[in-house]
Amino acid sequence: MTDLQAIVEEIHASLSPRRGEGKVADYIPQLAHVDPQKFGMAVVTVDGETHLAGDAEEAFSIQSISKVFTLTLALGKHGESIWKRVGREPSGSAFNSIVQLEYEGGIPRNPFINAGAIAITDLVLAGHTPKEAIGEIVRFLRYLADEDDIIVDQAVARSEQATGFRNFALANFLRSFGKLDHAAELVLGVYFHQCALAMSCRQLARAGLFLANSGTNPLTGHRVVSHMRARRINALMLTCGHYDGSGDFAYRVGLPGKSGVGGGILAVAPGKASVAVWSPGLNENGNSLIGSLALEMLAARTGWSVF
Ligand code: DON
Repeated sequence: MTDLQAIVEEIHASLSPRRGEGKVADYIPQLAHVDPQKFGMAVVTVDGETHLAGDAEEAFSIQSISKVFTLTLALGKHGESIWKRVGREPSGSAFNSIVQLEYEGGIPRNPFINAGAIAITDLVLAGHTPKEAIGEIVRFLRYLADEDDIIVDQAVARSEQATGFRNFALANFLRSFGKLDHAAELVLGVYFHQCALAMSCRQLARAGLFLANSGTNPLTGHRVVSHMRARRINALMLTCGHYDGSGDFAYRVGLPGKSGVGGGILAVAPGKASVAVWSPGLNENGNSLIGSLALEMLAARTGWSVF
């Protein structure tokens, strides 16, 4: 047992009594069924070591964490031209806010708020049917994690399709500004499926490892993106990955991170490791409460903060 394994286990044990704190997302009805007691942690180092604790092997709904991977795909397909459609600034508003969109001419503040992620998914859809685009996203995650058993949870996708009124409003609003190339229904069909990807902490940490290793997955040797692009994606995760909680996350954890309302967080320690945590109870900004605390403790214990 290495020191890191002991650290991960200690953090998990010390936070375990607090499981169930926070509020499980219920605006997507299917997510409300998840057991609030779940708590998993996975750390995969750039040297290839894996350290797990708790429910690290159980698949959960990655939700907005998928936005990191669709951003990566869109950059690969369209390069820097994507920045004509979406900005690179923190929004200071909730993940599903619509207000800035009108003031700012249909250009969402960043690729991680819902409006920005929908604009990015529209770019991933270019030249594809929705089914093909979903297939491309799933295959990309399997390639990154180097594992085949990554699937879309169809019940979650259907649940959001039936209740995602706010996202339909955002997509139609974007389209009214001429900032969406495809019909709202088609783009959201892909978006809801990417959010409904089910992955474990271990799979997610593996999938994010290229961001910790200058764009190359050290486990497979695959160069996913250039060093510069990995740096830039990490910068966006640090400044925008936790919505209007991004400043607090940077202050407490000091790592690029991306949260999802399923209770997962992917965090990147450049040159060191990729970390995924999962605990369904959320704080007031819609980010995992226990997950954020676990990452704060991990950064403190390892000295991995980028600052
Ligand atoms: O679009 C939505 O509302 C969800 N599919 C994803 C939102 C989300 O994960 C926000 N993150 N904390």
